[in-house]
Amino acid sequence: MTGGRRLEGAVPIAGAKNSALKLMAAALLAEGTTVVEHAPRIADVSTMAEVLEALGSRIAWVDHRLAIDASQAGGHETPYELVRRMRASIVVLGPLLARHGRARVAMPGGCNIGSRKIDLHLRGLERMGASFSFDHGYLVAAAPALRGEVISLDFPSVGATENVLMAAVCASGTTVVENAAREPEIVDLAGMLTEMGAKIDGAGTTTIEIHGSGGRLLEAVSHRVVPDRIEAGTFAVAACATRGDVLLEGARAEHLDLVLAKLVEAGARVEVGDRGIRIGMDDRPAAVDFVTLPYPGFPTDLQPQMMVLLSVARGTSIATENVFESRFMFVDELNRMGADIRTEGHHAVIRGVERLSSAPARALDIRAGAATVIAALAADGVTEVSDMHFVDRGYEDLEGKLTLLGAEVERERAPRPALR
Ligand code: UD1
Repeated sequence: MTGGRRLEGAVPIAGAKNSALKLMAAALLAEGTTVVEHAPRIADVSTMAEVLEALGSRIAWVDHRLAIDASQAGGHETPYELVRRMRASIVVLGPLLARHGRARVAMPGGCNIGSRKIDLHLRGLERMGASFSFDHGYLVAAAPALRGEVISLDFPSVGATENVLMAAVCASGTTVVENAAREPEIVDLAGMLTEMGAKIDGAGTTTIEIHGSGGRLLEAVSHRVVPDRIEAGTFAVAACATRGDVLLEGARAEHLDLVLAKLVEAGARVEVGDRGIRIGMDDRPAAVDFVTLPYPGFPTDLQPQMMVLLSVARGTSIATENVFESRFMFVDELNRMGADIRTEGHHAVIRGVERLSSAPARALDIRAGAATVIAALAADGVTEVSDMHFVDRGYEDLEGKLTLLGAEVERERAPRPALR
């Protein structure tokens, strides 16, 4: 990437990765063909398709329309090779218990951003009658019958809320999830499950109530994925970092409230219209403090990108990371590009510098990788970012979209064959 070009124009926002993956898992709860519309063409969706195929589903993926025929999905084991690639594969646990009363799921790997336990998933499902054991790296789960219970999560975990939700829709009786995650992707999943015939109240609030079907499977439906607020936020920050002006087509401002507020505090112009969100910045950003928290707080998935913007701000900002303990790892990459950031536990002190300078850099995970790309676009000179396969997990055709906006980007080799 040759830095220094303003990003200008309109960019279409894809369907949300973090929703699409869960909607795909939910297809296991119906016997017919579930269609996920507006599915992003990213490597993680491809991996989830392989997970579902390993379980016996048939997948047809044309453009952004993904059809999942789960009528023959008799399998209950997800292989290590796939779960290792993508931690979110664990989200098939709830649907498998609901459908087959058993599951054998490899223990997850995934992004390198902290210990990422699954204890809350397991405790919730245990309360509903599941039992777990571990066998040579596999989690072995059994639940002859799932029953509704009150489940109070210690932390509003996105994945735990989703696994419990998908188990509960086919359980007997009523499940109440307290301290549930409130992310728009949870609302999207609950929306699709409701279209499939599930009875769910309160999705998007801290208490979700689910009236189970008593063991009956749901109806297959067609559902359009909610727009990706993290992709939109990434382009919003990139627009600001290059002093550009970009229309985020299809982005939903109500899902980015705090992010937009922080960008405005930093000096961005934001207009919300029928086509999406238009965002631009003319001057060096002002320093802004921010704290990551579960939704509706500032998303941890936009923390690295925001750090890049603030690294060239006038003044000193403080970022606090409350969701993933190791998410500051990429700061070293950014400092190599001339940023002045010091971390102390889960706080980072960002002293704004005039400019970033190009240096060979690595994508460390999906979001840190996107942040490194933004740093390259804002830096002077040519920056080579390696390990872009991380970014391909979550961003559809990033270089194509950046080129559309006027960036000077070249891909050295084709993306990993993620698309089938
Ligand atoms: C999802 C998103 C991820 C996002 C995160 C937080 C997907 C595929 N990924 O991840 O992009 O960054 O939400 O918004 O949707 N925790 C436990 N025990 C558990 C579960 C979680 O201690 O059983 C901890 C985690 O280690 C982490 C925090 O809770 O520190 C948040 O995790 P969680 O909300 O579960 O995130 P994911 O669902 O993994």
